[in-house]
Amino acid sequence: MVIVGAQWGDEGKGKIVDVLAADVHIVARYQGGANAGHTVHVDGETFILHQIPSGILHRGKRCLLGNGVVLDVHQFLEELDTLVGRGIDAEPRIGISGRAHLILEYHKQLDQAHERLRGALKIGTTGKGIGPAYEDKIARAGVRLADLMDEERAHRLICTAAERANARLRALRAEPVHASEVADNVIALRSRVLPMVTDTGREILDTLQRPDTRVLLEGAQGALLDVDHGTYPYVTSSSTTAAGAATGVGIGPTVIDSVLGVVKAYTTRVGSGPLPTEMESPLAEHLRELGAEYGATTGRPRRCGWFDAVVVRYSAQVNGLTGLAVTKLDVLDTFAELKVCTAYDAGGEVHESFPYDLGLLERVRPVYETMPGWRRPTSAARSITDLPREARAYLDRLEALTGAPIEFVSVGSAREQIIRVR
Ligand code: GDP
Ligand code: IMO
Ligand code: MG
Repeated sequence: MVIVGAQWGDEGKGKIVDVLAADVHIVARYQGGANAGHTVHVDGETFILHQIPSGILHRGKRCLLGNGVVLDVHQFLEELDTLVGRGIDAEPRIGISGRAHLILEYHKQLDQAHERLRGALKIGTTGKGIGPAYEDKIARAGVRLADLMDEERAHRLICTAAERANARLRALRAEPVHASEVADNVIALRSRVLPMVTDTGREILDTLQRPDTRVLLEGAQGALLDVDHGTYPYVTSSSTTAAGAATGVGIGPTVIDSVLGVVKAYTTRVGSGPLPTEMESPLAEHLRELGAEYGATTGRPRRCGWFDAVVVRYSAQVNGLTGLAVTKLDVLDTFAELKVCTAYDAGGEVHESFPYDLGLLERVRPVYETMPGWRRPTSAARSITDLPREARAYLDRLEALTGAPIEFVSVGSAREQIIRVR
């Protein structure tokens, strides 16, 4: 099963993956890097995972980082050591594709320099070097984890790539990096990271050959941040959508049985770019406080809006969603009325499908349907019948508007706060 963010990221993928990981053998990340921040609450403790899959908190589960991931080795080892320090037996359970590309110091410098230069038109990236690392990969100038196997060759490759980056940094009027130092710093970590190298596709297929085995492929970011299908150029630089999962771990698409789209019961976005259902002040601040909507990676306040069914319908289309997990329903508990966007209005012209024209998307006004709120706590609900009638009606409407069946409803951040609908 693939688990994807079906909005603009931060839908609660970490929580859903953690819940489902209890019943699987492998959890594998297939794209993105430390730009992700997946929060998991277990027994009153909070874990924020950036590069390590959200299955890691279950004893004995194998966790893989696929070839589609861009790996910041320094930050990865820090994350790993923090987990180990908190009593999680993480290290022997992690495998990383030798084909994964490395994020090196100059990628982060380039990311930040580009953003500075863009000024008001900045993308609002996480500054983790994601874009420049994927640029190098596509330009066939990147350095892969497996390249560290031969120390001399690695040094040469990294120095060449760093000098190339330095030329760009100078052109952007930013400080160049010390090429040889960058190489030495990552080469020094070889002995810790190379024992984790594996062929992720091979491992997944071998596991699935055994009876009663299951694998979760954990997406980062969300469909509307996908480099092809998102609100380009206000996107990340990877294929976040379900088809990216196959190529990002090294299996064929025919191996995938189902795609679960994670959506919040409303909408958030962090960074720049269109957000048609964005709320105005002070409603936005109110929802932000209720939902604790601050970035798990950068701490930035998330922009908040009503549920946008146009977005999720589109997301169902580009991901081939077989089901939805609706999270944070409890955050809406106190509202007297809720709005749901069913279509967009562009000067009298109604659009029911998500526009590819960014100019149009920036102009559209959401067409809203208003529904009564339930004004009762839902956080103790464990079955759909525990929910107030108005909450069930709200979920039914989301299902009807998006065309994707709801399989899970999350009513709190804790592992047990989940309703299994089907
Ligand atoms: P991800 O990037 O998709 O994994 O999502 P994040 O972890 O960045 O953001 C989701 C936030 O919502 C986290 O702080 C979760 O702990 C929290 N969360 C997840 N599900 C629920 C829920 O059902 N109710 C509430 N109140 N919080 C939730
Ligand atoms: P998770 O996995 C929300 C956003 C950034 C910016 C754009 C490009 O936690 O859902 P990048 O650093 O990737 O080049 O930034 O994408 N972004 C995210 N927004 N959740 C994320 O990850 C994100 N990862 C990147 O804010 O708008
Ligand atoms: Mg997040």
